[in-house]
Amino acid sequence: MNEKTNKTIEPNTWLELAAKAKYAYQKAYAPYSDFHVGAAALTTANKIVQGCNVENASYGLTVCAERNCIAQGVIGNETVDTVEFSAMVIYTEQEKLTPPCGACRQVISEFFPKEAQVMAVNHLNQKKIWTVDQLLPDAFTPYDLINKT
Ligand code: THU
Repeated sequence: MNEKTNKTIEPNTWLELAAKAKYAYQKAYAPYSDFHVGAAALTTANKIVQGCNVENASYGLTVCAERNCIAQGVIGNETVDTVEFSAMVIYTEQEKLTPPCGACRQVISEFFPKEAQVMAVNHLNQKKIWTVDQLLPDAFTPYDLINKT
């Protein structure tokens, strides 16, 4: 298993990701927290997938926008290889930009190269960028299972 390779993302692609994350935000099902989140991610096959948070009356079953977005990429993968992603945008409408939660950081680390960038954007077009490695340094990934005995 080879390490995933990082890809530079063009400014227009970031804009498209932000627009699609905003669209996903509008679909959020968050009647309990009223905290709506949208995400969009670019696959290495140049496909953009989206996700929003989906809450549940059994609160603990809530799934974040980021993980639903990654699941869309897995479901929509048209290649024989495992889906991989090059970038993600997380969109919320509050001044404090939204970073991915710990569970999402782990799932992001599974499918993105560690140099890939994750951007939080809001309705004021403010931005914050992290690399996957900054979000979860020394993450446990598929590469840690190589040579398992
Ligand atoms: N949430 C996300 O979808 N992504 C994040 O990065 C942070 C939290 C959701 C989960 C829940 O539906 C709501 O935001 C409040 O925690």
